[in-house]
Amino acid sequence: MAQEKAQPEFIGTSGRPESVTVDMLFVPVFEGDDRLEDLPGLDDATGGDISTARESSEFRGRLYEFFIARVTGGPYQAVRVALVGAGRREDADAERLRRVAAACSYTARLRSMRSAGFLVRAGLDPIRTARIGADGMSAAEFDSGTYKSERDAGDFPERMVIVSPGADDTALAAAVFEGRTLGESSNFARNLANEPANVLTPSEFASRVAAMAQSVGLSAEVLGEQQIRDLKMGLLLGVAQGSAEPPRLVVIRHDPPGAPESPVLGFIGKGVTFDTGGISIKPADGMERMKDDMTGGAAVAAAMRTLALLKAPRRIIGVIPMTENMVGGKATRPGDVLTSASGTTVEIINTDAEGRLILGDALWYAQQLGATHLVDVATLTGACMVALGRTASGLFGAPESWVETVRAAGTEAGDRLWPLPLYDEYRDLLRSEIADIINSAGRWAGASTAAMFLCEFVKKDVPWAHLDIAGTAWAEERRAFQAKGATGVAVRTLVELGLRASLEK
Ligand code: BES
Ligand code: MN
Ligand code: ZN
Repeated sequence: MAQEKAQPEFIGTSGRPESVTVDMLFVPVFEGDDRLEDLPGLDDATGGDISTARESSEFRGRLYEFFIARVTGGPYQAVRVALVGAGRREDADAERLRRVAAACSYTARLRSMRSAGFLVRAGLDPIRTARIGADGMSAAEFDSGTYKSERDAGDFPERMVIVSPGADDTALAAAVFEGRTLGESSNFARNLANEPANVLTPSEFASRVAAMAQSVGLSAEVLGEQQIRDLKMGLLLGVAQGSAEPPRLVVIRHDPPGAPESPVLGFIGKGVTFDTGGISIKPADGMERMKDDMTGGAAVAAAMRTLALLKAPRRIIGVIPMTENMVGGKATRPGDVLTSASGTTVEIINTDAEGRLILGDALWYAQQLGATHLVDVATLTGACMVALGRTASGLFGAPESWVETVRAAGTEAGDRLWPLPLYDEYRDLLRSEIADIINSAGRWAGASTAAMFLCEFVKKDVPWAHLDIAGTAWAEERRAFQAKGATGVAVRTLVELGLRASLEK
């Protein structure tokens, strides 16, 4: 077994970029007329290579374009300078900047740089950008090849320096810590999603989340099958009954001393460790990806980790129902009727619409535990992916003001959330002959009818938002800023909500 690697060190410095001693200093350059005025002498330090490259259009500052030059003289202490294309300055929002920093981290790792620096350019917010930089520079630490006999992805740097000239030192140190913590947490979620389902069973998922919680001083409670039965969670049990693996329900609480009684944020994450579709079985093609059907749950756990470490000032409850959705002699059949913990009866039309079932019981439970504002996160519907592709997550909920709050948090955090409707008419599509509702209304408006199903388990007047991350949880292709595989989506949105001073818009 390889020795446990030491944690990389992330530090901030408010000094001049010239004095940063790293193997590679990354300098974001905007497309257009970015004259690097905040970096006098940089071109000379590379013997004029930078100006030559720019004049000849070898480097234009296009997004994720790199130009690496050795420092040959002058005041710069770095061994190499790497210009990274940051696209147009006016497009430099949180998501863009994080991606640029992430692309730098992949470049550093592929080249096995032992240390790297990320420069916050003049004109950008020196603190906010430092936080985003530390977050993005953590991206390449995630390694999707955990089961390869020989690693071939280079080594992640031991030391990362976020350079924010002139920044306030205390605020900078806090920002780097925050960004690094977010990046680590996002990688924690990505690692969980990447784990194969034979390793990450519901009970293993629960143990890992509980261990994480304990390591950051959160209280976590793992409910087993009998306790789930005692709570009468017929929907969660109905999904789990086809599997040899027993279900779990994990409750994580962040209860900082002195926090107001209310509001209490409730985060609920879908934790299906593998989704075969059940008796309404999925086609074989691509089914292996369904190991990531617990990404919503992982995002909730990762957000709770971050909020504990960043000492969020409010009460937050995370609820993660965990199960497999398997085929077998004991599996739920289409036509079966299940009774939820809230008492609502559900006729199963399609056993592949399992996420909404386990979330129904979990939403109810979060409210039982005192959550006053709900956000659930789930790889819920292929229909949402059809609507928005891999570009944005679907956002649903009520009231409008709460949905707007969540959307604003997403924008600030760099997760793209796009609102989709919950018209009353969709409720009609859930009518059952035999029970209160059916679990699958078929093809049309599939993302909205799924959200409408969840809405049945939210008490009147409780603000609730639902993020459908089916399209955004997993990257099918490798990009400059992202490995193929789990993306860490939604973690930052939940964290942003937890840190907000007010939950009103
Ligand atoms: N986990 C899937 C949704 C999904 C599909 C996520 C593709 C990521 C990629 C979910 O449990 C599911 O199977 N949904 C069904 C619902 C249908 C039966 C109403 C779907 O979207 O096909
Ligand atoms: Mn399914
Ligand atoms: Zn599923």
